[in-house]
Amino acid sequence: MCGIVGYVGSATPSGRPLEVVIEGLRRLEYRGYDSAGVALVAPGEPLAVAKKAGKLANLVEELDARPLPAATAAIGHTRWATHGGPTDTNAHPHVSGKVAVIHNGIVENFAELRDELAAAGAVFVSQTDTEVVAHLLARAYDELGDLTTAMQQVAGRLDGTFTLLAVHADRPGLVVGARHDSPLVVGLGQGENFLGSDVAAFIAHTRDAMELGQDQVVSITADEVAVTDFAGRPAQAKRFVVDWDARAAEKGGFRSFMDKEIHDEPQAVADTLLGRTDRAGRLTLDEVRIDESVLRAVDKIVVVACGTAAYAGHVAKYAIEHWCRIPVEVELAHEFRYRDPVVDERTLVVAISQSGETMDTLMAVRHAREQGSRVLAIVNTHGSTIPRESDAVLYTHAGPEVAVASTKAFLAQITAAYLLGLYLAELRGNMFHDEVAAILDELRAVPGKIQQVIDRSGRVQEVARWMADTPTVLFLGRHVGYPVAMEGALKLKELAYIHAEGFPAGELKHGPIALIEPGQPVFVVVPSPRGRDALHSKVVSNIQEIRARGARTLVIAEDGDEAVLPYADEVFWVPQTPTLLAPLVTVVPLQIFACELATAKGLDVDQPRNLAKSVTVE
Ligand code: AGP
Repeated sequence: MCGIVGYVGSATPSGRPLEVVIEGLRRLEYRGYDSAGVALVAPGEPLAVAKKAGKLANLVEELDARPLPAATAAIGHTRWATHGGPTDTNAHPHVSGKVAVIHNGIVENFAELRDELAAAGAVFVSQTDTEVVAHLLARAYDELGDLTTAMQQVAGRLDGTFTLLAVHADRPGLVVGARHDSPLVVGLGQGENFLGSDVAAFIAHTRDAMELGQDQVVSITADEVAVTDFAGRPAQAKRFVVDWDARAAEKGGFRSFMDKEIHDEPQAVADTLLGRTDRAGRLTLDEVRIDESVLRAVDKIVVVACGTAAYAGHVAKYAIEHWCRIPVEVELAHEFRYRDPVVDERTLVVAISQSGETMDTLMAVRHAREQGSRVLAIVNTHGSTIPRESDAVLYTHAGPEVAVASTKAFLAQITAAYLLGLYLAELRGNMFHDEVAAILDELRAVPGKIQQVIDRSGRVQEVARWMADTPTVLFLGRHVGYPVAMEGALKLKELAYIHAEGFPAGELKHGPIALIEPGQPVFVVVPSPRGRDALHSKVVSNIQEIRARGARTLVIAEDGDEAVLPYADEVFWVPQTPTLLAPLVTVVPLQIFACELATAKGLDVDQPRNLAKSVTVE
């Protein structure tokens, strides 16, 4: 999730290309802020490039100190790191000869391309996947003498997701872009044209836009926009007029960043899976830099995390214990180090954190390492403190999460934890390769299932609006549905300031059932009927018990599970998903419910009262 801007204007060099690109990057900064950079071209001039780690302000400061020359075209980028930490060297644009390129996405086959290029003499200076594109484009341009055909050729060789923009010093009136599974829009001006990862990049200059389709290449000059497919055949892009205001454009037209980030969840899960299997489909978690012999000797896993990240750890517990047959404890980080935990060199501690800066979790990591344990971090934010103080890191690729309450990062954390569990299970001989491959295939189908749940969310939003004045809501779940129920309750607490409580369905009769009175709304997350019969039938019995006492039952159930119908006031259906992977779809209606109810109450869902995105104090 990076910010991308391109501009071509008057043939007379000026400061406008840089001004337009920097302004566009400002509007896109929420998409990524690990580093930022620009490349400018002008007739008869060499490429002019500036890039800096950190926020956009660092680049602007650099440009004030060392101004770049007037230009006729420019590209700019704000980065959300996926490969290589947030450093000046890893910042985009990446340059090879006279070509500069910026990229949003993940090039899955970058390692083999890098080997091919290095064997041909290319010299790499960064740890990024994008740099291979710069070298490929330079080589293709030297062969073809044309940047558009060079882009068509190169784009056809890349696996993964990408939006690319490139300029060449010998083509000062041209910017060329390409996209596959990552957005790219064109802004149509008068005597100037724009490119952006979304319309926020150029909405200040034009509302006349064009959305590129899958596998298309676009070439813009000051007066022309030409679109082709990767084979060079002319293609049609969808024309539209932007009717959002600038602020709405930054949210992609959604009412809130939370709304937008829930809609980003299919991509967040898909991107977290990307680049982690080789062409044979074998898991290649090469970021897990812990010696295999150490991982084989692990006799216990302890997850340390807080809040939503801890619930992701609870989901992971069920899967990893089932696949790896080793005990997994999930500890709230702030409790972990004060209870003299029994951890040693045979304990693998997994620290889950979206921000990578949560002080409670960081202190737990330090304590674990003092006890001789290896620590693997599952983190969303590159270059943050927790990965730096861990032995290994498995980054989630959810992109920046702007809303304080976590949604897409939660799904990405669960996805990364599944990958870790499968990796360990195969490494330790608990699972065959074909068993792991079958589960990976199921995981790859999950983004589409999440999208189905989002597409069906009208009813859950309607119910949420009706319930805007509800004083309290209960959430029940069993097995992996239990942490989902806990997360649903947390979302409602932090977004709508409603007392909400989640608990294991089996605990109902041990006390909480006393809370049930006529009209009490209760969400129940129902396991797949295709999983374990007892698991499913017991939860259906729980629904019956509370319905008999007047509860208003709001049921999350799998398509076709008719057993719930006699006892459900509302059923929010989710696509059939294997039991252990089901949290990735069953939590989505609960997230949407909390977001919609809080919005209906007129609350700020992006910045709820009393909360911070990263709790950097103990
Ligand atoms: C998420 O909705 C919460 N705001 C909060 O519980 C969060 O999950 C917790 O503070 C951990 O944050 P981290 O993932 O950045 O470590």
